[in-house]
Amino acid sequence: MDINTVNIEKIVKQVLSEMGTQKPSHQPTPGTGRVAMLTAKETFEIQHYPIPEPGDDEILIKVEGCGVCGTDAHEYKNDPFGLIPVVLGHEGSGSVVKMGKNVTRDSAGNPVKIGDKIVTSVMFDDDPDITMMDMNKQNLSSTSAVYGLLPDDHIHFNGWFGDYILIRGGSSFFVCNDLNLDLRLLVEPAAVVIHAVEQAKTTGKLRFNSRVLVQGCGPIGLLLIAVLRTMGIHNIVAVDGEDKRLSFARDLGATETINVKRYSGQEAMLDAVKTATGGKFADFAFQCTGSPTAHGAVWKFVRRGGGLCELGFFVDNGEATINPHFDICQKEITVVGSWVYTLRDYATTFDFLKRAKAIGLPLEKLVTHKYPLAQIDEALKMNLRMEGIKVAIINE
Ligand SMILES: NC(=O)c1ccc[n+]([C@@H]2O[C@H](COP(=O)([O-])OP(=O)(O)OC[C@H]3O[C@@H](n4cnc5c(N)ncnc54)[C@H](O)[C@@H]3O)[C@@H](O)[C@H]2O)c1
Repeated sequence: MDINTVNIEKIVKQVLSEMGTQKPSHQPTPGTGRVAMLTAKETFEIQHYPIPEPGDDEILIKVEGCGVCGTDAHEYKNDPFGLIPVVLGHEGSGSVVKMGKNVTRDSAGNPVKIGDKIVTSVMFDDDPDITMMDMNKQNLSSTSAVYGLLPDDHIHFNGWFGDYILIRGGSSFFVCNDLNLDLRLLVEPAAVVIHAVEQAKTTGKLRFNSRVLVQGCGPIGLLLIAVLRTMGIHNIVAVDGEDKRLSFARDLGATETINVKRYSGQEAMLDAVKTATGGKFADFAFQCTGSPTAHGAVWKFVRRGGGLCELGFFVDNGEATINPHFDICQKEITVVGSWVYTLRDYATTFDFLKRAKAIGLPLEKLVTHKYPLAQIDEALKMNLRMEGIKVAIINE
């Protein structure tokens, strides 16, 4: 790169950033679309910007809806990623309205056309530290990006909480015309649990007849129960502190439920788990809460020689305490972590959603609350109050 290129890049960056900080319009005009811009903690502004024209490698999507994720709620409340101003929303789906001439196929190689329903995945970046080690570990790249967690720029339509989203060249996206909107909104969180199950299988401890314990019955734990049930696993113990969530767990395939709030003290809780697992403790456990206390507890629920998958900490909620003597050495538990998903997990996710529906699991019931974009603030507050399961923004 010579000095002139550097200067040109600097100027372009400056112009783009100035365009990005142009005063937004708060009134609709022809050719504009809305975004819900998080402009400060707990403050959304509905802003109007010109609808972008897709370049040769780009796709313009008309957003139909987007689920609210715990990560959106964290960003809304505390801005831990330092992204403000930002258009959030990464669990979205919509239809292709325009696309550049070079766009012909999705990330699975399927043809794409105007009107197709699509979902996006992570924009994976090849981090040589990771890919040199294992080509299948693209999910661990430290430089990947996600629509809905991108800094604002001159495009503005960078997250799914808006009327449109512009998908850039090189992004991963999938056509999924055969799923209804509610199921499409569950694709991203379902991919998280599909990846966790794939990770769990690498331990060799998750089998058809395993007694499996799922700790935490938010959207992640509930989808996990549905995946296990779809795989034919039929001994599933769900653990949570909310009866309403445990009732969903039963609907989705849990055979036993334990409300932690009913048991005071570790011994009482251990007795409950022992009883629910036929006196043996769990062969395998999935930890799906973001609670360090819950992480400390879950080891005790696993039998000697069993397995554990930790997927509950997408954000840093602090240290957890375990006893290396009782929890690790003496039991020889095999532990595996799980971090987002790979592109391959998406194909499995689409299969899972269709199979779950075919065996009658009421997955759509997980989308408990729907709000228009103008009420996004209430949707985020509802998520934080944990009154629903999956709260979604649905465009009128
Ligand atoms: N590994 C990944 O790539 C990945 C991706 C997405 C989300 N996550 C994480 O998964 C976790 C679950 O996500 P979610 O959307 O379902 O969250 P959520 O907050 O809706 O659900 C968590 C559930 O855990 C329950 N819980 C809390 N403490 C408990 C305890 N001590 N014992 C039993 N249950 C308890 C809560 O009642 C709640 O139902 C989050 O912490 C999130 O950060 C991880």
